[in-house]
Amino acid sequence: MCGIVAYTGCKEAYPILIKGLKRLEYRGYDSAGVSLAQNGTLSTYKQKGSVDQLDEFCMSKDRSGKTGIGHTRWATHGEPSTTNAHPHLSSDGRISIIHNGIIENYVYLREELTKRGYQFQSETDTEVLAHLIEDIYKNEGCSLEEAVRIALKNVVGAYALAILSADEPDQLILAKKGSPLLIGIGNNEYFIGSDGSPIVEYTRKVVYLEDGDVAVVSPQKGLTIKNIDDETTKRPYLQKLELNLEQLEKGGFEHFMLKEIFEQPRAIKDSMRGRLNVKKDIVELGGIREYEQKMLNARRIIIVACGTSWHAGTVGEYLFESIVRIPVEVEYASEFRYRNPLIYEDDIVIAISQSGETADTIAAVELAKSKGATVIGICNVVSSTLARITHAGSYTHAGPEIGVASTKAFTAQVTVLTLMALSLGRKKGTIPLSEYHKIISHLELIPQQVEETLKLNDDIKAIAKFFVEKRNAIYLGRGINFPVALEGALKLKEISYIHAEGYPSAEMKHGPIALIDEEMPVVVLATEQDTYEKTVSNIDEVISRKGRIISIVTKGDSVVKNKSTYCIEIPETLEILTPLLSCVPLQLLAYHVAVLRGCNVDKPRNLAKSVSVE
Ligand code: AGP
Ligand code: GLU
Repeated sequence: MCGIVAYTGCKEAYPILIKGLKRLEYRGYDSAGVSLAQNGTLSTYKQKGSVDQLDEFCMSKDRSGKTGIGHTRWATHGEPSTTNAHPHLSSDGRISIIHNGIIENYVYLREELTKRGYQFQSETDTEVLAHLIEDIYKNEGCSLEEAVRIALKNVVGAYALAILSADEPDQLILAKKGSPLLIGIGNNEYFIGSDGSPIVEYTRKVVYLEDGDVAVVSPQKGLTIKNIDDETTKRPYLQKLELNLEQLEKGGFEHFMLKEIFEQPRAIKDSMRGRLNVKKDIVELGGIREYEQKMLNARRIIIVACGTSWHAGTVGEYLFESIVRIPVEVEYASEFRYRNPLIYEDDIVIAISQSGETADTIAAVELAKSKGATVIGICNVVSSTLARITHAGSYTHAGPEIGVASTKAFTAQVTVLTLMALSLGRKKGTIPLSEYHKIISHLELIPQQVEETLKLNDDIKAIAKFFVEKRNAIYLGRGINFPVALEGALKLKEISYIHAEGYPSAEMKHGPIALIDEEMPVVVLATEQDTYEKTVSNIDEVISRKGRIISIVTKGDSVVKNKSTYCIEIPETLEILTPLLSCVPLQLLAYHVAVLRGCNVDKPRNLAKSVSVE
């Protein structure tokens, strides 16, 4: 996700844009740019790096103009660079556009526009929009607003757009679908932002654009909003911006971590966007297309990662072995790189990293490459080191993850691993078509089921009180939920500093059961179907030793629920997809325990967001 700011009115736009972009930098910070309407032309300044670097670059430029747009980027298509930074311009430089979102059909549109003679400066999906709007505007002889509306009817994807034209320098055109966009109403002036943070100091009167809206604002013409599809004009619904500035950057949440936990429905949806089409029965990961045959012929898959990414990789092991029937080994990158592992040229190595900068994971990739293996990356930061050194890969589109404890990156990684396994299994013929269809139709429902699970937040906050004074906890899970037990334990220990261990449920009998007493909370993931009775037995073993059970069950479960001190019921899905849901209550539990213990949730002691050192 990135940050959008725009202004039109009686003031100089530039200071408002820059200040607003600084407020939005938490949404994306790999590059930034502005366009200003000046004497019948547009001046556009862009820079790779921070908003401060853009501001410094603009010091020597003409920054005049009372209408402008500004963007701070979180790259999804095209590496972070000055060329790929927004705004993007039409060929004649008279239309400038900034965009938050993903244009799914940009490759097709780019091909069509190239055939019509358009030349592209950047690798982004956004630039396609600039030329598409230009093409319609020139050839249809319609208004720019009409051209934008027609163009968007040909676009598949998500967007929040602000468009500035030299032909109408006192107006801005805005459009929204799937990404947020607000209009602040001033006194004959308009302040636009991806959220309220660039707006709130000027006005608290706002209009939240809704999906399908195209709006035009100008000091002379005021504000009009139409629907993209049927052109019906809609009455702007004025609201009051309630949040204070500091909260706004966290979207109204107390911590980035909680905000990112609640962003998971969007992060999962964006990680599937353009890759999963249930109607057309397509699972397509463009980033690995040219290596798919190698992956299908692989003798084995080695997954290397650290921390939460390693847990996602362990979920991947279950996914690949059950769907693609290829042996998988999951390795801690730090161990893999030093133990002189046996690596063969027909091995596929999948390296998973949210930051793409984890030193151990990068070293493991270099080692695998040196032995001739093919390395596929799954990463959340476009053009990060890992993204650049792997042979191919697929990005998670989780957006910036600011909280040190990884949450939405985990579910986005598991989403991409699921799509990868499905795509390969379908092509290899190792998954029955009926099973394949069942999984993809259930996968499509996951974002809304995560939404439903997030509604348990208050219940989980109440359960957290039980942990506040505890010194230890055990997390148990079977099968594909064993890695989730590990992840839940990691979340608790890294932000609340309570010692917690994850174990395979059956493994508890081989030692850890000696720890069980009334002071030991035992969190049990009991959603699985095949080994449910075995898990019930494990729960009985804990209870017989006065252990206290906190269970995660499928909605409607009564057996485990009746044995639990606390029970959290999550929506029913296929067992192979449960990690995407069962991890959410564990994230929330860890978060609330840490808050109750007065811990620094976003910046836990001793930790860093990206461990780029050994
Ligand atoms: C997880 O909450 C931690 N922040 C940590 O374990 C993290 O997952 C690990 O350092 C790997 O980071 P990466 O995904 O950026 O490579
Ligand atoms: N897809 C656009 C790009 O990669 C916008 C990314 C974003 O929303 O941050 O430039």
